[in-house]
Amino acid sequence: MTMTSGHAKNLQKPKGKLGVLIPGLGAVATTFIAGVESIRKGYQPPIGSLTQMGHIRLGKRTDNRQPLVKDFVPLVELNDMVFGGWDIYEDNCYEAAIKCGVLPVPMLEKIAPFMKSIKPMKAVFDKEYIKKIDGPNVKKGKSKMDLAEQLMKDIEDFKKNNNCDRLVVVWCASTEVYKEPTTVHSTLKNFEEGLRNSDPNIAPSQIYAYAALKMRVAFANGAPNLCVDVDAIQELAMENGVPISGKDFKTGQTLMKTILAPGFKARLLGVSGWFSTNILGNRDGEVLDDPGSFKSKEVSKLSVLESILQQDMYPTLYKDLYHKVRINYYPPRGDNKESWDNIDIFGWMGMPMQIKVNFLCRDSILAAPIVLDLVVFSDFAQRAGFRGIQEWLSFFYKSPMVPKKLYPEHDLFIQLMKLKNTLRYAMGEDLITHLGVEYYD
Ligand SMILES: NC(=O)c1ccc[n+]([C@@H]2O[C@H](COP(=O)([O-])OP(=O)(O)OC[C@H]3O[C@@H](n4cnc5c(N)ncnc54)[C@H](O)[C@@H]3O)[C@@H](O)[C@H]2O)c1
Repeated sequence: MTMTSGHAKNLQKPKGKLGVLIPGLGAVATTFIAGVESIRKGYQPPIGSLTQMGHIRLGKRTDNRQPLVKDFVPLVELNDMVFGGWDIYEDNCYEAAIKCGVLPVPMLEKIAPFMKSIKPMKAVFDKEYIKKIDGPNVKKGKSKMDLAEQLMKDIEDFKKNNNCDRLVVVWCASTEVYKEPTTVHSTLKNFEEGLRNSDPNIAPSQIYAYAALKMRVAFANGAPNLCVDVDAIQELAMENGVPISGKDFKTGQTLMKTILAPGFKARLLGVSGWFSTNILGNRDGEVLDDPGSFKSKEVSKLSVLESILQQDMYPTLYKDLYHKVRINYYPPRGDNKESWDNIDIFGWMGMPMQIKVNFLCRDSILAAPIVLDLVVFSDFAQRAGFRGIQEWLSFFYKSPMVPKKLYPEHDLFIQLMKLKNTLRYAMGEDLITHLGVEYYD
């Protein structure tokens, strides 16, 4: 990411339409789209969205400058967004939203014609990467490069047909199986060769990412599988000057972990065990029932605590931490996930204590405003000329992407400070350190 202080200061409010293209028009994507349309119609406020409801402090505490983020940074208006996407099923967004069962039918009825107008384009899909589902709305191609070119054509046609000025792609499709990067992912040259040879190690999500970046379209990855995390794709992002971010929307149990764990560490409380279990009955839960897809999720979820608690630095407190994460597919609950956390902590004189968290959350309700903020900020990043990994968007992700030499920041509050300071820096405002000595001079 390249940026100098104040370089986005003269950036104007964007004109023209922003096309939002989404691989995977399932629970998260349709809840996001339905929400944006309901907000546009004035039916609902944008609850949970930092770009729409958040304020940012500028200058000293005595200055009383706390504008809305969207009044400080020139961001796209919701009215200027148009939506499209790909899915392996042919359902339009109204049908998909009804089947996902996240939002009540009367709420969807109010925006039914709009939701029905969004129909998925044919997807790039490979059963080897998502075992539990299959669908008819899938592209055929001579090679993976041919499939990538078909996606590029979709992107180009969507832009033309909807008269878009700019585009953003957000991956909201199912979690692919866990695979380590191979030599085909090590350079762009190898990757393109691999696309031409239909290398089995190239995942569909990576084909979408390649197509988007070739078209100079920002890409955000909401799933835990490796997608834009590989060297070849990052090389392309830098070469074409495109922002990328990921991975795995930070919702539910992990959101709670990144709120609680920094608190324990701040107060130097030990943690000997953290057992997390979930029941989940939507299609995401079904896909995660496959051990390969679950492995992607597990890796993403497990890294959070180890990274926040810094076991090497605090061996007395965290060296023996036993961390276990379970996800159980349980259809009766649909999208209304329930999670239980048992946290064994210890304090002064090593005395043990326990904390139980029982979160009855709605996964897609927590994810939808994240998708909105990622769309809005990815578009801002694109217009401001940021390229490559956008670490300042870590706030939205369970497993934030960082350059190889860095460890990720998982603490939600550090992430928020990083995000807001990035906006201040880009707009030429003073950074806020919370030192505050100036008030006592
Ligand atoms: N709901 C959350 O809170 C949450 C949080 C973090 C991450 N995620 C991730 O977001 C993604 C979406 O979650 P969801 O609950 O909407 O799942 P979902 O199963 O309801 O929707 C995913 C959709 O992707 C489609 N799909 C699968 N492979 C595809 C491909 N190759 N191309 C195009 N479409 C494809 C499926 O047909 C499905 O309609 C998942 O990867 C999930 O792990 C969700």
